[in-house]
Amino acid sequence: MAYGKLRRFIELAAMDRPWVGKVFGRRRKSTPPRDSNANWDWDSDYASGVLDRLWRNDQRHHHRLLASLLAGSRPNPAVLDIGCGEGAFYHTIALHRPSAYLGVDVSKLAIERAREKASATPIDGPVHFETGDGSAFDTDETFDVIVFSECAEFLGDMSKVMDRYRKNLREGGKFGVTMWLATRQLPTWELMKAHAKVEDEAIVCAAWGGAWIVAVLSPR
Ligand SMILES: C[S@@+](CC[C@H](N)C(=O)[O-])C[C@H]1O[C@@H](n2cnc3c(N)ncnc32)[C@H](O)[C@@H]1O
Repeated sequence: MAYGKLRRFIELAAMDRPWVGKVFGRRRKSTPPRDSNANWDWDSDYASGVLDRLWRNDQRHHHRLLASLLAGSRPNPAVLDIGCGEGAFYHTIALHRPSAYLGVDVSKLAIERAREKASATPIDGPVHFETGDGSAFDTDETFDVIVFSECAEFLGDMSKVMDRYRKNLREGGKFGVTMWLATRQLPTWELMKAHAKVEDEAIVCAAWGGAWIVAVLSPR
């Protein structure tokens, strides 16, 4: 508990002071890097149930806040959800009556499950889930919001990713982000902030100690 509180103190301090994150976020040599898709088998994680946590009520407040911030600035948004997993964010944004939804994820299993689960919660507009690499996915469709929920840290250079999707944002469109609050992920967040205008930024803390950055960004 005390360790958790210390970590949170350090993470919050590091948000405005990157040097704090550098000092305290150094990885022990024995810990393999998690923030990369190299050697990462997402299908196995979904098959084993490790990612069932994404549906836990106490791990979805970040989805709820992001969905209401996005729908508040863009009512009935057309949504592109990169790294959508099994569609947990879809089920939250569905309450805000999006006009269209497209989810993309690198995991074939997650996409199969997302299609199955979403069929029970239709919206007025079209809903599609596609398998694809979010750092290279291409479409001519345009959207009011493009969401990276607990996913940006897996997509490589987020400044390039945001540039890539800029053409898919309608005028006044927004990027929506949630990110697990951990010092190792703060460089990704710093990069995104440097590359876009932060319209809204908040920290969502769960009672058990977990916390997420939630943000709405406009492209510069
Ligand atoms: C922690 S989960 C978050 C899932 C979902 N966005 C949510 O908030 O519940 C990270 C997701 O990112 C996906 N992912 C990782 N790298 C990806 C990539 N390069 N392209 C698309 N999806 C990716 C994984 O398959 C996984 O579903």
